[in-house]
Amino acid sequence: MIDDIIEVKDLHFSYRVDEDTQLEILKGININVKKGEFLAVLGHNGSGKSTLAKHLNAIFTPEEGCGSVKVCGIDTRDEERLYEIRQKAGMVFQNPDNQLVATIVEEDVAFAPENLGIEPSEIRKRVDDALKTVNMYEFKDKAPHYLSGGQKQRVAIAGVLAMKPEVIIMDEPTAMLDPSGRREIMATVKKLNKDEKMTVVLITHYMDEAALADRVIVINSGEIELCGTPREVFSQVEHIKEIGLDVPQATELAYRLSKEGIDLGSDILTVDECVDAILAKRKAD
Ligand SMILES: Nc1ncnc2c1ncn2[C@@H]1O[C@H](COP(=O)(O)OP(=O)(O)O)[C@@H](O)[C@H]1O
Ligand SMILES: [Mg+2]
Repeated sequence: MIDDIIEVKDLHFSYRVDEDTQLEILKGININVKKGEFLAVLGHNGSGKSTLAKHLNAIFTPEEGCGSVKVCGIDTRDEERLYEIRQKAGMVFQNPDNQLVATIVEEDVAFAPENLGIEPSEIRKRVDDALKTVNMYEFKDKAPHYLSGGQKQRVAIAGVLAMKPEVIIMDEPTAMLDPSGRREIMATVKKLNKDEKMTVVLITHYMDEAALADRVIVINSGEIELCGTPREVFSQVEHIKEIGLDVPQATELAYRLSKEGIDLGSDILTVDECVDAILAKRKAD
């Protein structure tokens, strides 16, 4: 029984800029993702999040002496098991338009399982189940280009689910969506993790999205700068600001109030918690 769905050990990675210049992006990253966990990865633009994501399903593989990445115990350098790795670690990218390949929604969702050589009756079932899970079943006969960004991204997620992955890795899946699209995707992510027990790695630069995770990792200058529950990480407001990131809005408000002498505690994450703390404070005063 393998507990860790993803195991990244001392991962180093550099882009070769030209003949004799290397740009070191990942400087010894260690990450373990447990089965059923919802992990958020934060970091400012250019901090190496997508580079890391590409290592998690063997788009990039570590060079000799640059650490290792395992998916369900399989080393990503094992070329013979590449399809298995890609099936187990499904990826969702930023731009939904780049991920949809077919002209009909259900054909799109069927694309990956068809390539895996799965039987037609099983494919039919998987496609229907996946579309129901992301609440897009009623759109199964539609053309993707009539859908909103959030709907397209949900179809892309269904396409990954139809492969029956062990973990779904999302690289800024809401970055190109409007607020309602973002809400749709985050509701889908929560449902997948809580109801379907799917292991999720969510790469994001939205703090309120990261606040929903079980655990948050903050990457800075190619290293893991902070790691812990959202409450542990976001309570370090000044540290997070120093590395050019924000904290969730409610945390920010509580932080500013504390600077004005109104102490609501340092572990506020949500608007509801902030309201409760303010009301409790008023009562106490
Ligand atoms: N193909 C590439 N060649 C050279 N440098 C790259 C390449 N792709 C990304 N980079 C650089 O690597 C750094 C990390 O990129 P990336 O992993 O995309 O960061 P993030 O996803 O956190 O914004 C950035 O400085 C970026 O400019
Ligand atoms: Mg990126």
